[in-house]
Amino acid sequence: MNKNIIFVFSGTGNSLKVAKDIAAALGDCDIISMGRETRYYLIGGYETIGFVFPTYYRGEPIKVREFITRLNLQRNKNAYYYAVTTTGRYEGNTLRHIKKLLKRKGTTLHYAKALDMFSNYVIAYDMRDTVEEETKKSEIDFAPLLQAIKNREINQVRGIKPLVVGVNYFCRLTTIIFAGSPLSFFGRSCCRDCVAGLLRCGSWAH
Ligand SMILES: Cc1cc2nc3c(=O)[nH]c(=O)nc-3n(C[C@H](O)[C@H](O)[C@H](O)COP(=O)(O)O)c2cc1C
Repeated sequence: MNKNIIFVFSGTGNSLKVAKDIAAALGDCDIISMGRETRYYLIGGYETIGFVFPTYYRGEPIKVREFITRLNLQRNKNAYYYAVTTTGRYEGNTLRHIKKLLKRKGTTLHYAKALDMFSNYVIAYDMRDTVEEETKKSEIDFAPLLQAIKNREINQVRGIKPLVVGVNYFCRLTTIIFAGSPLSFFGRSCCRDCVAGLLRCGSWAH
């Protein structure tokens, strides 16, 4: 059995890359998809348990929330828990949600960090041509994050104010309408281009 495990969800590869890099640095590490698996039997004895996933609408993807909610952590009470969310820029309350979720399960989230990466939010704008410079910056930002996880550092998770949360819920709602409507331009391009197969035209699967 490996000593470390990372649960990953990734629509377009950013979070998967981060998970793989953390796994390579820690060694002895399993990587499990939170997108493919809906339930996972977690045996005891892990030293570190990580969650790596993108931010969607200033929150965690529903699949991630559901997966963690179902995950039994009782056999790994003494593990070091961390979460990394990859973002276009605004993490909102994503990591705070995960902290609260783990707390409700009787576990502490020791370390949590957002990492800005090249954004895949193509619903609202065309792909930018700054991928190389943005990726270089992400690599620079990733180095201390990785070191912190290797050193089992503990940090505080900050969130955002209720007014901003309200705006975010509004954005989430409008996108559900866009993605769900067969008449919607955004919905159609979003469904057509969804490499993860998570969106279906006429329904909202995120
Ligand atoms: C539906 C959707 C909603 C998103 N919402 C946010 C957001 O609220 N804040 C943000 O910074 N990035 C947002 N993004 C961008 C992603 O979080 C970012 O590109 C992430 O690195 C993608 O990771 P992945 O390649 O592992 O899927 C969103 C992307 C999608 C597809």
